[in-house]
Amino acid sequence: MNIGVLGGGQLAQMMAQAGSSLGLSFMFLCPDSHACAAPFGEHLCAPYDDKRAQKRFAKWADVVTYEFENIPLAVVESLHQQISLHPASSVLSVARDRLAEKLLFRALGIPTAKFAPVDSLTKLINALEDIALPAILKKRTQGYDGKGQALLRKSSDLSVAWEKVEKVPCIVESMVAFRRELSIIAARNQKGEIVFYPVSENHHRDGILRLSISRQDDPMQVRAEAKIRSIMDNLDYVGVMALELFQVEDQLFANELAPRVHNSGHGTIEAAETSQFENHLRAICRFPLGKVSSTQTSAMVNLIGRLPVEAQIRKIPGASLYFYGKVERPGRKVGHVTLTGSDCSPEEFDLRLAALLQLVGESELAGRQFFDFTRANSHYLHQI
Ligand SMILES: Nc1ncnc2c1ncn2[C@@H]1O[C@H](COP(=O)(O)OP(=O)(O)O)[C@@H](O)[C@H]1O
Ligand SMILES: [Mg+2]
Repeated sequence: MNIGVLGGGQLAQMMAQAGSSLGLSFMFLCPDSHACAAPFGEHLCAPYDDKRAQKRFAKWADVVTYEFENIPLAVVESLHQQISLHPASSVLSVARDRLAEKLLFRALGIPTAKFAPVDSLTKLINALEDIALPAILKKRTQGYDGKGQALLRKSSDLSVAWEKVEKVPCIVESMVAFRRELSIIAARNQKGEIVFYPVSENHHRDGILRLSISRQDDPMQVRAEAKIRSIMDNLDYVGVMALELFQVEDQLFANELAPRVHNSGHGTIEAAETSQFENHLRAICRFPLGKVSSTQTSAMVNLIGRLPVEAQIRKIPGASLYFYGKVERPGRKVGHVTLTGSDCSPEEFDLRLAALLQLVGESELAGRQFFDFTRANSHYLHQI
């Protein structure tokens, strides 16, 4: 079967790697001449809206999917009219727009930060009468890795922030004082069957994901599953979705959804029976979904901007190293390392993780004590 992927970055790359054992072939429509997925299929290097490229892509592919939500909606809609495409273009029209996304969460009764749409400085000023500072101003579309966002700490920040987001339609949302930042990933097929991965606890710096830790039996698992299920069912979703969440006391607020495989799920390659990449392909190809059952703690550390010394990482037991083949550049995701804890005690796992974080320059995170509820006493479980 031929899979056409819009985009040619590391998510497309890992999708194609997972697809080889399913007998799938890949074509990537991606304007970047250095697309790192290119060695894993055919690279159609053209702008997304290039009609000739689209025609060839649609003719070759049996199913089309996308690796990020910033593909022009018109392109996805046009392809969807010609060919099987998942997640549907109607899903993308919601997931690419932070306002539509938040309105969906609200309609489904899922709590969110307080938010308001703004399309002028005056509207921003007015919105902040209701939404207290500190707050965050975010472009409604095209943002990722914290890009297209401005922090609002005091009233005098507003006009600079409005300039920073280039005066395009935005939402402003209150800053959530969360206890933990989480994500849940699930795969849903055409029959409405869903498999859920263990919740990940995520740590960001400068708006970019640095570390995801997944443990068995997260106390928030059941609630997170209920939320993503209601969103997937509502959208009649097919494929893998990630839902980013803030845990406030024992409540989960939805931050955003990603209609695709997600960075916090890279550890599923090692830690789950079927990775998020394979299950995405299984769902969109109408193959039976693979079992998720993961029984081990895992951590995923992003390599941002530059690659570490490979030999040093290799010395850490249980570490799997991925280099995407991208040119090093500040703020760019160039690889990741997954650490699994099946062969060691939780204490040893923490030591290995701290060593790994030091090696990749995340010394602040390396010094942190991550809470492990699997080792927690009932007092903590009672609290949350
Ligand atoms: N309302 C908020 N309150 C607190 N932190 C936030 C809020 N919105 C975003 N953040 C932080 O910024 C990160 C990036 O924002 P997000 O909305 O997920 O955009 P993107 O991932 O598309 O860049 C989040 O993962 C979170 O750490
Ligand atoms: Mg996000």
